[in-house]
Amino acid sequence: MEALKVKENIYWVGVKDWNLTEFHGYHVSHGSTYNSYLIKDEKIALIDGVKQYLSQENIERIKSVTDFSKIDYIIVNHVELDHSGNIPELVKLAPQAVVVTNSAGKMALEAHFDTTGWNFQIVKTGESISLGKRNITFVTTPLLHWPDSMMSYCPQEKILFSNDGFGQHYCANTIWASETNFGIVCEEAKSYYANILFPYGMQAQKALNTANELNLEIEMIAPSHGCIWNGKEEVNWILSNYAKWASGETDGSAVVVYDTMWGATAKLAETITAVFQDAGVPVVKRCLTNAHTSEVMCDILEAKYVVIGTPTLNNELFPRVAAFVTYLKGLAPKNKKGFAFASYGWRGGVVNKIQTIMEELGWQTIAPFEEKYTPKPEVLEKLKEHTKQILG
Ligand code: FEO
Repeated sequence: MEALKVKENIYWVGVKDWNLTEFHGYHVSHGSTYNSYLIKDEKIALIDGVKQYLSQENIERIKSVTDFSKIDYIIVNHVELDHSGNIPELVKLAPQAVVVTNSAGKMALEAHFDTTGWNFQIVKTGESISLGKRNITFVTTPLLHWPDSMMSYCPQEKILFSNDGFGQHYCANTIWASETNFGIVCEEAKSYYANILFPYGMQAQKALNTANELNLEIEMIAPSHGCIWNGKEEVNWILSNYAKWASGETDGSAVVVYDTMWGATAKLAETITAVFQDAGVPVVKRCLTNAHTSEVMCDILEAKYVVIGTPTLNNELFPRVAAFVTYLKGLAPKNKKGFAFASYGWRGGVVNKIQTIMEELGWQTIAPFEEKYTPKPEVLEKLKEHTKQILG
C-alpha cells in the first residue's frame, strides 16, 4: 500500500472503502474513501485518520513515506469516527506527535477515546502551525456538520484540506476528480451535501464568508471523502455550488414522492406529476418502493415544489413514507412549496402528519388532499385543480 503524491512532499495516505453501500442511513452508490494526507517539511504533519477497520491500510501508506517516529503533528479536523476511528492507534504509533484540534474536537476525542497522555494543541480560526517552509492555518467550521468540524489550509500550496466539506462518497481508481467520471463526482458532491450538510446552510455560508475574509487563495480542495478538486475550474464549480445550495436557491423543479399499496396513491401521484409536466415544470416522480430516501433528498435539494403522498396502513403513515418524512424533517430543507396527499380505506387523517412536518419546516403549503379507496376520474380532476393552486 503506497502513498500517492498530491504535490511535492504532500501525499494522500487515505483508504478506499469500495464496498460501502450505507453511511448512517445514506445510501451510497459508488463506495467511499476516507482521505488522510501527510505533509513532509522540516516537520511532518498528518491530516485526519480513517475508519478503524481500515486502519492498517492507512498505516501502511504512511509508512511508505515516513517513519511514525518522525511525525510531529496529527491534525484532527473532525471527530466523527470515519475520520477519527483509528486516531488512538496512530497516536500510539507516534506518541511524540502533538494532536492538533479545536476545543470542541478535544472534548469529542476525550468523549470517544481514552486520551490519557495525549499531547494536545488547541487551535482557533486564523491560527497556524509552522512546518518549516509551509504553514497550516486552521478554520473552524462549527456545525458543518459537527461542533468540532474544522478545515486546514496551506497558504504556500494554496490547498484547503476541507474534511467533510466539498466531499463526495465516491471511490475511484484515482484521487483526482479530473481523472474519473467528473459528472458522477459532481452528482455525488450534490448528494453528499443533500444528505449530510443540508441542515447547515447557514454554517456553510459562514464558512465560505470566513474563507473570503481570510483571503484564502484556493487552487486545490482536498476533502476527506472522494476525489480532490484541482485547478480553478473545478474549485470554482464546487465553491459556487456550495454557495447556491447553502442559500436555498431553487431551480424551479418539482418532486412528487410517495409509496403505494394497491395503486390508489400511485394514481394520485401520477395526476399531480402530470399537472407539473403540463405547466412546463421539470418534475420527477419517485416511488419509495424503488427509490432510496437519500436519492430523493438529492432531487429535493434544488427543487421548488415537494409533494408527498402516503397510503394509510393501520391508521398510520405507510412505513417507508414515515421513514422518509423523519429523514426529511432532520435534514430540514427550507424554502419549498408543497402539500401532502393520501389514500385511505375506512379512516382518513394520516395526511395531516405529513402536512404538519411541512409546516414545521416553514414550507409554503396548500391544503392536503386525501381520497377514500380508488380515486374516480372526477376525483382526479379535482386533484388537478387542487395541484394548480400551488403553481399560482
Ligand atoms: Fe465524514 Fe462527519 O464524517
